[in-house]
Amino acid sequence: MSRENIVLTREERELQLDYAHRAGQSLRDRLGRQPMGCVVTFGCQQNEADSELIRGMFIDMGMGITDDEAKADVLVFNTCAIREHAEMRVFGNVGQTSHYKKDNPDMVICVCGCMPQQPQVAEKIKKSYPYVDIVFGTHALWMFPQLLCQRLSRKKRMFDISGEGRIWDGMPPVRKEGPCAWLSIMYGCNNFCSYCIVPYVRGRERSRHPDVVISELKELVAQGYKDITLLGQNVNSYGLDQEDFPDFAGLLERCNAVEGDFRIRFMTSHPKDATPRLFETMAKCEKVCHCIHLPVQCGSNRVLQEMNRRYTVEHYLELVECARKWMPDLTITSDIIVGFPGETEEECDETIALLEKVRFDSLFTFIYSRREGTRAAAMPDPATRQEKQKWFDKLLAVQNRISREKNADYVGKTVEVLVDGVSDDPNFDLTARTEGFKLVHLKGGTDLIGKTVRAEIERSSTVALFGKVME
Ligand code: 5AD
Ligand code: SF4
Repeated sequence: MSRENIVLTREERELQLDYAHRAGQSLRDRLGRQPMGCVVTFGCQQNEADSELIRGMFIDMGMGITDDEAKADVLVFNTCAIREHAEMRVFGNVGQTSHYKKDNPDMVICVCGCMPQQPQVAEKIKKSYPYVDIVFGTHALWMFPQLLCQRLSRKKRMFDISGEGRIWDGMPPVRKEGPCAWLSIMYGCNNFCSYCIVPYVRGRERSRHPDVVISELKELVAQGYKDITLLGQNVNSYGLDQEDFPDFAGLLERCNAVEGDFRIRFMTSHPKDATPRLFETMAKCEKVCHCIHLPVQCGSNRVLQEMNRRYTVEHYLELVECARKWMPDLTITSDIIVGFPGETEEECDETIALLEKVRFDSLFTFIYSRREGTRAAAMPDPATRQEKQKWFDKLLAVQNRISREKNADYVGKTVEVLVDGVSDDPNFDLTARTEGFKLVHLKGGTDLIGKTVRAEIERSSTVALFGKVME
């Protein structure tokens, strides 16, 4: 597909806007009041960013936005397919919604995102959840106003999981409150790690034009956002799908040159595409946080090869060494999968040994989940769930100790943090993030939200730091 066909044309955008107005009008006529929209998000930051776009579409429809499912006239479940557990949660939630329709028969229930992009799942929703009105995949997200409009006028359930990945520049999202914002720089993934469903449900890599990224960044800065995360499934391959785009390090340099008081972070990085040039650029760009999420997945070369990760443990360790040489204060986090098909306890012990070597600040740890249609789904998987759970617990205990030790190093120190919200810990008032994205609970006034302050760290735990704002 040529570039021109990937990016939505102005006509296509205007057509959707027209559908949005018509859908909003139809709902208002039917209800005799302002209709309300609610989006419930499952899964990763990419889904959160997509949900922000759906909320933007609600605004185009003249609708209000609520977080209360029961009060919604249009209820959207934006779903995640990464693990079976995520899918079961979605089915559980969607199953609960039939009773909403008893109170509000006009409620429109939609299921979108990664789950229904898989045809067998879309089919299951169609058959087993007759009260779901609209089903669409990640590729049809930009057509939501049209699908809603058609549902309202034709009274027919709408299903659309077609389409190749498009880029819908210029659709303004409604972002969550606070000083942090996501900025998608690319969509999709080309990597086909053998366990992963993402390339099947999000399509091939499509980089957004650097000028569009920069102008959105400038807008965010002008709106007062202070902590901006460049988002993509594998940001390190940004630009590689287009001849005249900068690479990711080049894009970082351009972002860094934007004027203003803000910091930049990014996720996710694939180790096979992380380069010394990236680390050098991070070190030299003063607005780029010394913080990287670099999923290693496991510490056995045999398993890494089976996973189709295309790097070795040795290469990963070299990368970490190089990154720390450029940025001695670097915070590194990672993802680990325990119990990949055919993995043995000894191989999982190699992962534990890797954790001891790298000493990640924190980890996201998962037990392998079989995803229909992926290569790993066809691999023999002899270890039992109980065995995998035992390995998982052992690994987690090691990481928890390392995280605890690393966080304890902050006690007694003064760090610069961005105050980003209200703490749910009754002993504290605020939450804040360090440059390395460590969570800090603070005492202080809510007028500090959105401000960068210096904080003295008094205590730490496995997952957070605790302290007070310095005068
Ligand atoms: N099972 C378990 N974990 C998975 N991930 C991706 N696919 C699977 C799966 N089938 C994890 C990887 C990835 C993170 C986002 O989710 O660790 O980095
Ligand atoms: Fe999935 Fe691998 Fe792509 Fe990450 S890089 S989204 S794990 S296929």
